[in-house]
Amino acid sequence: MAERIIIFDTTLRDGEQSPGASLSAGEKLEIARQLARLKVDVIEAGFPASSPGDFEGVRLIAQKVKGPVIAGLARCIRKDIDSAAEALKPAKRRRIHVFLATSAVHRKYKLKKAKQEILKLAVESVKYARKFADDVEFSPEDASRTEPEYLCRVVQAVISAGATVVNIPDTVGYATTIEFGQLIKRIKSRVPNIKKVILSIHCHNDLGLATANTLAAIENGARQVECTVNGIGERAGNASLEEIVMILKTRKDFFKFRTGVKTEEIIKTSRLVSTLTGIHIQPNKAIVGDNAFRHEAGIHQDGMLKEKTTYEIMSPETIGLKESKLVLGKHSGRHAFKKRLLDLGYELSEKDLVKAFDRFKRLADKKKEIYDEDLTAIIEDEISVVPETFKLLYIHTTSGTQTVPTATVRLEKRGKVIQDAACGDGPVDAAYKTIDRITGLGAKLIDYSLRAVTSGKDALGEVTVKIRKGERTITGRGTSTDIIEASAKAYVNAVNKLVVKK
Ligand code: KIV
Ligand code: ZN
Repeated sequence: MAERIIIFDTTLRDGEQSPGASLSAGEKLEIARQLARLKVDVIEAGFPASSPGDFEGVRLIAQKVKGPVIAGLARCIRKDIDSAAEALKPAKRRRIHVFLATSAVHRKYKLKKAKQEILKLAVESVKYARKFADDVEFSPEDASRTEPEYLCRVVQAVISAGATVVNIPDTVGYATTIEFGQLIKRIKSRVPNIKKVILSIHCHNDLGLATANTLAAIENGARQVECTVNGIGERAGNASLEEIVMILKTRKDFFKFRTGVKTEEIIKTSRLVSTLTGIHIQPNKAIVGDNAFRHEAGIHQDGMLKEKTTYEIMSPETIGLKESKLVLGKHSGRHAFKKRLLDLGYELSEKDLVKAFDRFKRLADKKKEIYDEDLTAIIEDEISVVPETFKLLYIHTTSGTQTVPTATVRLEKRGKVIQDAACGDGPVDAAYKTIDRITGLGAKLIDYSLRAVTSGKDALGEVTVKIRKGERTITGRGTSTDIIEASAKAYVNAVNKLVVKK
């Protein structure tokens, strides 16, 4: 059986360090409960000494969330460790995570401590943390920029002091993939007592390599990965949980590792984290972005309709999405268009399909995404049974505070083009008066309504008019992204119906 990778989720600690993200204790609890449903192995609930709110959040999670190990972060300072120990007390399975920077730049400028002093402090802190918890993790902060020989000495010493997990952070996302893999391999082979602990890694995404570096570390012996939902975290964030989990699942043929994560909970978790932190997910984000299972290109849609695996390497259901989506837009082809119409209950003749597809393409040039309501409007508008005695060819209106509203309209009547112009109370009134002059039917407008059929700035507007001529009342409809054009179409549609009735 494939070896198991431990998923250490730090959304509530490193993830919450994302600029702009701040969670209340209650919100943290809500996310932690969802992380437990997702079945992560470890939840790093916070940094208890950093604020009373964080302490409260960690304590609440330790009290209420069952299943995963609950971890709390602490510097190598007694009061930090005391605070983490206190907050974690109610947890059935708890871990104190202590960290101390080891790189030359951190030693010199931040800590102002020599190598030996840091090593001693790390050892003392691990020993002290072990008084409160059987499970103690140690992280040599900025490990990837630490002299490897010194790093190995620190790792060996903290294991001897009682650490159960040693985590190697690429704190500033500086390591390249091969380099990071080699570092893990070196630690595995050079540290004599390394087998006593779980070797973990924690990669940041400053150069966009967090997920790749995590995988390289796994291949070289790391068995715990620290990651966050949606990849949130300090600066450019951490390795993204959903990417690592889905890579191991989708490419199990290559990696031969598994996780205990219930992948069907991924999308729910991702959306909850995004909502509560207020950090939006970019549409093209791998796995959880809005576009991750949407296909727009005609060739792709055609492939998807024939066989989904042509363009999908994982099914949306595995992450908890209902289905993939064929987005109808200007790149879509006839196959997807016809299929969506069939789903909507429209089975068109080949001739009508050509006509509707042509109209759809013209609309798609003006509007980014075509919704089902747009299609219904197109079909009702375009595949109309009413003969087009009058056809709208052109409309131009002018209006404004200092302008007399005027319309110029060109209609075609049985092959003959007729143009006229008129003024009115507004551009629509001017257009209707012009149409009346051309058709000569003299109907009376008794009702006019406009609504957006779809949402967004580029919504399709639908105009419905009622006109009366003698005893007869007739309704006409027109749609367009331009409301004046939609108004004219609705009126011409009503006029055509009137002509037929006549
Ligand atoms: O990036 C980092 O080094 C950390 C440690 C505290 C593990 O977040
Ligand atoms: Zn970090």
